[in-house]
Amino acid sequence: MNDSRIASKLDASTGVGTRLDPWFDRYADRALGMKQSETRSLFAVANRPEVVSLAGGMPNIEGLPLDFLAEMTAKLIRERGPQLLQYGGGQGEEELREMIVEVMRPEGIRAHPDDITITTGSQQALDIITQIFINPGDVIVAEAPSYVGALGVFRSYQANVVHVPLDKDGLIPDALEETLTKLEREGREVKFLYTVPNFHNPAGVSMSPERRPQIVEICERHHVLILEDNPYGMLGFNDQTMTPLQTLNPDGVIYLGSFSKTFAPGYRVGWALANHAVTQRLILANENAVLSPTKMGQLSIAEYLRSYDWMAQIKEYRSMYRERRDAMTAALDKYLPQASWNVPEGGFYTWVKVPEGIDAKAMLPRATTNLVAYVSGTAFYADGQGGDHMRLSFCYPTPERIEEGVRRLSTVIKSELETVEMFGNPERHTDTGVETPNSNLR
Ligand SMILES: Cc1ncc(COP(=O)(O)O)c(C=O)c1O
Repeated sequence: MNDSRIASKLDASTGVGTRLDPWFDRYADRALGMKQSETRSLFAVANRPEVVSLAGGMPNIEGLPLDFLAEMTAKLIRERGPQLLQYGGGQGEEELREMIVEVMRPEGIRAHPDDITITTGSQQALDIITQIFINPGDVIVAEAPSYVGALGVFRSYQANVVHVPLDKDGLIPDALEETLTKLEREGREVKFLYTVPNFHNPAGVSMSPERRPQIVEICERHHVLILEDNPYGMLGFNDQTMTPLQTLNPDGVIYLGSFSKTFAPGYRVGWALANHAVTQRLILANENAVLSPTKMGQLSIAEYLRSYDWMAQIKEYRSMYRERRDAMTAALDKYLPQASWNVPEGGFYTWVKVPEGIDAKAMLPRATTNLVAYVSGTAFYADGQGGDHMRLSFCYPTPERIEEGVRRLSTVIKSELETVEMFGNPERHTDTGVETPNSNLR
């Protein structure tokens, strides 16, 4: 191994691979590019009962009909045990794929079960899609900010992520056009656009109806595939549904769905809807990765969808999350008037711009010491931006805990601002690594 490779291994702040690791010099470059996500590294602290965690994106599944599920599962095992507990096919079970066609119908998708591949959550769909499209150094265009779990996958396949900004109406078409044109001029081929059009994680916004055909048209013209990730689309607080990009160009869009937020993440079942050719490759990649997705999970979900009023369950989720969103925005109004945020109309997240002078990443240890956790905006960019934002999740804590969490956060921010006013903020850096002058911190 040459010196520069050793140096870069030593320099990599990966959290893995140190001189104490006997296999330190054997790891592939892609492993050295992996780092613990800012959300995951918080889990240990955030899960302590005294901490109000506004950090994780865990759904609140307390309202699930556990007795019903217990009986359903017992009956399934009794009646179809040998089938449930056996290997299955790499594409996933046909009876579930047929039900998924029905699940996507309320959003306007007309699909065929043959075009669906079942995956281990939509996270694994992100993984195999990246695997089949991305060579090291290839370009993926993604919203700024983007889902941290997708960025982690893209990084592990050594993709180059180029961000395009979004605003309150989602991804900005002009900015996308400009970026794709610039990349074309530079001779850099874009493998796909990654977007979460509905109730975005972390930004909480949705792509407006006017922008959807524009985004699809721009990508079509530049011959860029769209990866539409939609785990929250059914969780609109006003029972609204939005046109999937997939319906505007079925051949040009791979659509990802998941049962994690609308039912339960523990089953680990998601899916990818793609055209025939892409589906064939996804099935091969799926077989390589897991042989077959969980039969137990798939057949349990198929039975749940057949025998329970799943839409009523989703409606219950909507009103429960809506109440929590209201608690979050009321608390922000009350305790953090100097910050700014969007009012999400669905999903799990509020994206808060912190008062000027605060660095959300640097403040996090102080916040957890004060028993409140959030995710710094920096987790959601591939390039270190985002210190001026934080993601506050309202999905898991009760309304009372949300209010208490925001109150604690306001105390931390207040003392942080006092410190900054007195001493400046030595931890705050611009993207170039140059310290921000104190005069800019107020
Ligand atoms: C935007 C987005 N995509 C994908 C996932 C992965 O979900 P799962 O693998 O549980 O389906 C999440 C989870 O938080 C998410 O927020």
